[in-house]
Parts: sequence; structure tokens; C-alpha cells
Amino acid sequence: MIKAVRGTRDLLPPQTDVWNFVDSTAREVFRLYNFHEIRTPVFEETQLFARSVGEETDIVSKEMYTWEDRGRAASDKGQSLTLRPENTAGVVRAYIEHKLWDRPGVQKLYYIGPQFRRERPQKGRYRQFYQIGAEIIGPPTAGSESPARDAEILEMLATLLDRLGIANWTLELNSVGCPNDRPRYYEALKEALKPVVGQMCEDCQRRATTNPLRVFDCKVPEDQPIIEKLPRISDYLDEPCRKHFAELQEILKSLDVPFTINDRLVRGLDYYTRTAFEFTHGALGAQNAILGGGRYDGLSESLGGPKAPGIGFAIGEDRVVLTLEETQGSKSAPPDVYIAPLGSGMDREVAKLGRELRTAGIIVELGDETFRLKKSLETASKLGARFALIVGENEMNTNQFAVKNLATGEQISVARSELPARITGAK
Ligand code: HAM
Repeated sequence: MIKAVRGTRDLLPPQTDVWNFVDSTAREVFRLYNFHEIRTPVFEETQLFARSVGEETDIVSKEMYTWEDRGRAASDKGQSLTLRPENTAGVVRAYIEHKLWDRPGVQKLYYIGPQFRRERPQKGRYRQFYQIGAEIIGPPTAGSESPARDAEILEMLATLLDRLGIANWTLELNSVGCPNDRPRYYEALKEALKPVVGQMCEDCQRRATTNPLRVFDCKVPEDQPIIEKLPRISDYLDEPCRKHFAELQEILKSLDVPFTINDRLVRGLDYYTRTAFEFTHGALGAQNAILGGGRYDGLSESLGGPKAPGIGFAIGEDRVVLTLEETQGSKSAPPDVYIAPLGSGMDREVAKLGRELRTAGIIVELGDETFRLKKSLETASKLGARFALIVGENEMNTNQFAVKNLATGEQISVARSELPARITGAK
């Protein structure tokens, strides 16, 4: 038997109803905050991720699905392509490629779609997973650098989680500084690592020389006490970064968006500057980050674009759905009415009635004319329909239909023109 590949899964009803609820709630919130959708390709040139997410990150060094595409002729050396492990790089590439900075104001873009990382699958962690993300990006003259944009994003996230019915989240906030702060900090970090790095895992030993900030990504338990004692970027911020971070905190406080400062939070991608954040939730277990994001003021330039500071986030939709299922369970909307044909030759009439009722916004399931009435009623009950509508010769001739309330067993006779009102009125 051929099964779905490890780390991928089929999403089936009724769970897909929860997914659609999450999608539509997010789209509605994005609309209120004036974000518009962008759809970028699922695969890109490998270089895009190497240059943005960073060669030394776990994502680029271990987790990408990369292949050499075939050239036109068999002898052609192909291009290296990669299934996107995240969407910010693609959005910024599109921003540069389509000169979106020519448009007025800042660009407020959102996306919903699959991402791919070759991680070890476990609860809340998949190789094909789904993100709902958004980015605000634009020229500094349009206000893209302002901490007000960071606050807008974070307040929007609090609103979205609230509308989804997810309570008890924690917003962890940090500032990871900017290229001005980094040299001094890296020096201090390398100094502090020197005497202890020999006791750390192989990955950390490599990171200590190539990209010391990545040491904070280490999950090896034995390394944690060492990491705990390392200097933090927060102590090395320059004045503008410190001020930016303080202003953001002030706005969040005035908006009553609760947060905690986590000065170990560095995020697993290299493009971040200044604000970095994660929302976590207790229902998730080990993979407890529902979403993550931050600022990336230098990303556009590092990809050959103009200066275009930005900030964004991505929600792990799989994890949001898991949280909702653990806290609320999942349930589909059952049909409002099951139309049960009585006797053969009724399919046409049933189809017409179904059309009328669906036009009135009623969820209809059609029965089968080969079923006896008993089987139709049993099927309707199993499907959870609220009413069964019985359609036979008699009903067609008199235009009066038997409507059975499947919960109470009560049956009434309703004129055709009254059917929509009777069925919706009882909702
Ligand atoms: P990230 O932290 O790598 O950030 O991913 C964001 C979220 O995606 C995580 O918090 C998690 O909920 C979910 N996620 C990541 N990997 C998996 C996985 N293997 N299975 C299930 N869920 C997963 C980014 O991707 C950045 N692009 C976010 C961003 C946007 N920063 C600025 N703009």
C-alpha cells in the first residue's frame, strides 16, 4: 500500500473545517488591518534561502528539500532549486522583482500556504506544514522602520488569537540588535565561548566560529547551563536600537497587549534585526511556538534590493489547529436538511428542491431514490441532519411536504414556498 510520505499528512473532514475557520478568521483580520494577499511560488532558487535565512542556520544547512533541476539538454547543468522552508524570503524577492516600493506607503502583504522542512516529525512538527504569515515592508520614508509597525503587528496577532478562541498564550519579546551592535557583541560572545566551547556539542563548536548567535538555537540539554551564562545581545544594543525597543514596549503597554522579555530569544533565521518575538502556548507540548517573527531591516539590501526595512511573522497553522482541537475539539456543521425521495422517478424533483433550498443558504444533503424511507431517515440521522424532507408523488401534487424534526421525531406539513423560512427559522 502506498502511504503519505513521512512527515506529510492528509487533512480530512471534519478537521478541514477547523482549518477553514482559521483561514477565514485570519483573512478577515488581515482585511481590517489593510493587509492584502501575495502568493509566491512554492519553490525558488536555492540561493534565495541561503542568502536570507542564512547558510549556518539549521533550516538551510540541514532541513531544505533541494534538487538540481534539469537543463534543456540532458548535458546542461541545471539550476539548484528548493521547496520554500519559509515565505519571508519569497515575499522580499517579489518586493524587489516587482519594484513594489514604487507603490504608495508601506506594503502590507499576507500569505497562507505550505512550507517544507526536513525536520524529525513529531507532534506539531511536520515536513510539509502550513503557515499564515504577514509582512510590512517599505522604504524608510514610508515609516517602515517605526516601532509603531511592530506594535501594529503584535496587536493584530493578539486580536487574531482572540478571535480564534485561543487564550493563555505568552508573547515572548526580545531585541536582537542591528549590524552596529553585532561586532561588539560577537566579540564578547566569542570570548565567553572560548573556555567552554570544548564541552559543547559538535554543532555549537562549529557555530562558535561561523555564526556564534546560532549557539542559542542549541537544544542539547547538556549545553543549556553553559548557554545560560553567555552574554546577551540585549546588553549590547546601541542607543537607537534600545530606544526602538523601549518605544515598542510603551505602545504595547498602552494597548494592553501582555508580553514577557526573553533575552535568550534569537530565532532560528539570520535575517532578523531589532524586534524578535514568539507566541507560545502550553497545550502544544515540546513544539510550543504557535508563531514567530520579527524585524528584518537589512534583508532587502542583502538580496540586492533597495533599503526596505520590514517586520512580519508566520503562524504555524498546524499548531493553531492542534491547539483548537485540544482546547475545543473539532466538529463540522451538519446538513440542515436531508431530502428523502419517496419512490422512484423522484431524483429530478429532489434536485430542484435542493437547488431552491441551497439558494436560500440552507445546507442540503440529497437522498437516494432507491432507499426505502426507513433507510433514508436512518441515513439522515447518522449524518446529523436536523430535518428530513420527504418528497413523493403526493407531495409534488399537493405542494405540501412532510418535514420531520429528527431530534424530536415531530413531523409537520409545510407548503413549498414556506420551506426555507421553516428550516432556517428553526436554526
Ligand atoms: P519560523 O519561526 O521558522 O519563522 O516559523 C514560524 C512558525 O511556523 C513556527 O513558530 C511554527 O509554529 C511553525 N513551524 C515551523 N516549522 C514547523 C514544522 N516543521 N511543522 C509545523 N510547524 C512549523 C518563519 O518561518 C519566519 N518566516 C517568520 C517571519 C515572517 N519572520 C518575519 N516574517
